[in-house]
Amino acid sequence: MKIARFSRLGFILAAAGSAVGLGNIWKFPYIAGENGGGAFVIVYLITVFGIGFSVMIAEMLIGYMGRIDSVGSFEKLAPQNKSTWKLAGFIGFTGIMILTFYSVVIGWIFHYISVALVSLPSSVEEAEYSFTQLLQTGIGTQIFYHTLAFLTTTIIVIKGIKSGIEKMNYILMPTLIMILGGMFIYATTLDGFSQALDFMFNPDWSKINSETLVTAVGHAFFTLSLGMASILTYSASLPKKINLTRTSLIIVGLDTGIAIIAGLILFTFLFQYGEEPSKGPGLVFISLPAVFYEMGSMGTLLAVLFFISLAFAGLTSAVSLLEPMVQYLIDRYKYTRLSASLLAGGFFYIIGILALLANTKEYSELLTFGSRNLFDWIDFITASVLLPLGGLLISIFIGYVVPKEQVRAGLKSSMNDIGFGVWYFVLRYLVPPALIVVMLNLLNIFV
Ligand code: PHE
Repeated sequence: MKIARFSRLGFILAAAGSAVGLGNIWKFPYIAGENGGGAFVIVYLITVFGIGFSVMIAEMLIGYMGRIDSVGSFEKLAPQNKSTWKLAGFIGFTGIMILTFYSVVIGWIFHYISVALVSLPSSVEEAEYSFTQLLQTGIGTQIFYHTLAFLTTTIIVIKGIKSGIEKMNYILMPTLIMILGGMFIYATTLDGFSQALDFMFNPDWSKINSETLVTAVGHAFFTLSLGMASILTYSASLPKKINLTRTSLIIVGLDTGIAIIAGLILFTFLFQYGEEPSKGPGLVFISLPAVFYEMGSMGTLLAVLFFISLAFAGLTSAVSLLEPMVQYLIDRYKYTRLSASLLAGGFFYIIGILALLANTKEYSELLTFGSRNLFDWIDFITASVLLPLGGLLISIFIGYVVPKEQVRAGLKSSMNDIGFGVWYFVLRYLVPPALIVVMLNLLNIFV
């Protein structure tokens, strides 16, 4: 079958659109806040550029050489034990799992666009109350906006790589960058900015423990969209001639830059109005709306723009979470794009409803298992377990299973010999042990 190919810029925007998401603007600032700021940011940067960047090249290479869905690509490139390695391709399933709660959060963001337009909460207490109300009793509202997120995502994927995903990213990504750029410039004029800089770049090493490391690595994979075949699936539609190293570097750079900028914007606003940075997941839904209220009409404008940019970031990631499964159904079972999208989309839509119900008063007991409810379990298992596991499989596959000459040939126009030597070394000897240590640490957290 002839695959529609991305243009070079189209690919960069789509992959960056996948990487830049709720992870950058919603999650990164709050986990940095919870883990003490500077020290966490440094660990995160080392992980992103040390491990993430190398794995990104490897994941791209699998799609680029395989030219088919993730399961087919692993199967095709494995020199032997094809039917076992094919199973590694099922990391694409993680995307659908992430999408269940991701779509619910995009739904909250849609809701907050309307809150920003109508009336912002006038204090943190009020903001906290309305956010808790939304989660605990706002079943109808949440389902309504989750449905909207589901429809938008699925319709774009139905339209395909060229006229759906590529086109969407051409519009949303530059808009997102302009909005955040404008807000960043504004933030630099406020007094809180120097405090934000200090908080994000002045490390307090006492805040680092094994849980922080696990969080940093898990988040590095999550934010770069690694370990679940999003990048792999997009790379199957790469133009033939492309420098994978440079492309990966641009994507990692954009993703990191946007996370840092979002963090600086948020913390500036919070410090400016004397709020705490360590508020957890409620940071952008509780502390921030109250701060926007304090800013008066400027705040309303900033709030609307902020939640719109967050929604854009979320949607460009959501399509990349859905695409691997859709591509798999198309390539393997000859589904039409329409029915593949509806099937995969329907799955995340329904589980997403269960996930949102798990936060509500009425159903939380039913949907809580052990220490976490369904929503938190899916978040934890996907981001902290399955993504690092996917990264481990990818690095072992390219580092040890696919013959070295084939890997070298695939990267012919992407690296010189020295660059290849360094990258291959990192992929073989640094990435797998680091990921194994992280996963062993996870056991500590479990027990
Ligand atoms: N990278 C996205 C974010 O930061 C989430 C994502 C994870 C998207 C994995 C695709 C694959 O929000």
